[in-house]
Amino acid sequence: MTIAVYPGSFDPITYGHLDIIERAAAVFDRVIVAVCLNPGKQPLFTMEERVEMIARESARLPNVDVNCFKGLLTEFVKREDARIIVRGLRAISDFESEFQMALMNRKLDPEIETVVLVAQPKYSYLSSSIVKEIASLGGDIGGLVSDQVARHLQERFALHGLRDE
Ligand code: PNS
Repeated sequence: MTIAVYPGSFDPITYGHLDIIERAAAVFDRVIVAVCLNPGKQPLFTMEERVEMIARESARLPNVDVNCFKGLLTEFVKREDARIIVRGLRAISDFESEFQMALMNRKLDPEIETVVLVAQPKYSYLSSSIVKEIASLGGDIGGLVSDQVARHLQERFALHGLRDE
């Protein structure tokens, strides 16, 4: 059984992430979507909120589970008996950091392979950050995230809106 871990901030999950989850689920026996800490980012949603949103989006995929962890990705992958890390690549600009992460993870655990899935062109401009920026300014995020995620964003920004800042 080939178990793959798809790690990320998912703050929040977008249709670009969902596309990678669906494609990974078609390739691997089991996919664990893992919400984890990116020390370089200040999240809008708690880890539990992000897990819940992803679980709803992926509920129809029987071989996909959602989890979260704090700590090293390679240790989580090992604990889950997985050997594969899946990452999505949107554009050349992603390449440098993905390359560095893949090499560092291999140094930390040479038994773990990183598999990169190239984003569909229609999602290549999409990121959680840009979705949050648009939502915070009251723009239309239809077609970028699901309705439930859009509602969560609208609610969050109604409380902590950036519109007047
Ligand atoms: O969605 P992101 O923010 O691009 O995902 C980056 C993430 C969360 C996968 C990366 O920051 C990560 O692996 N964090 C866990 C801590 C860790 O293992 N860091 C070393 C990575 S080489």
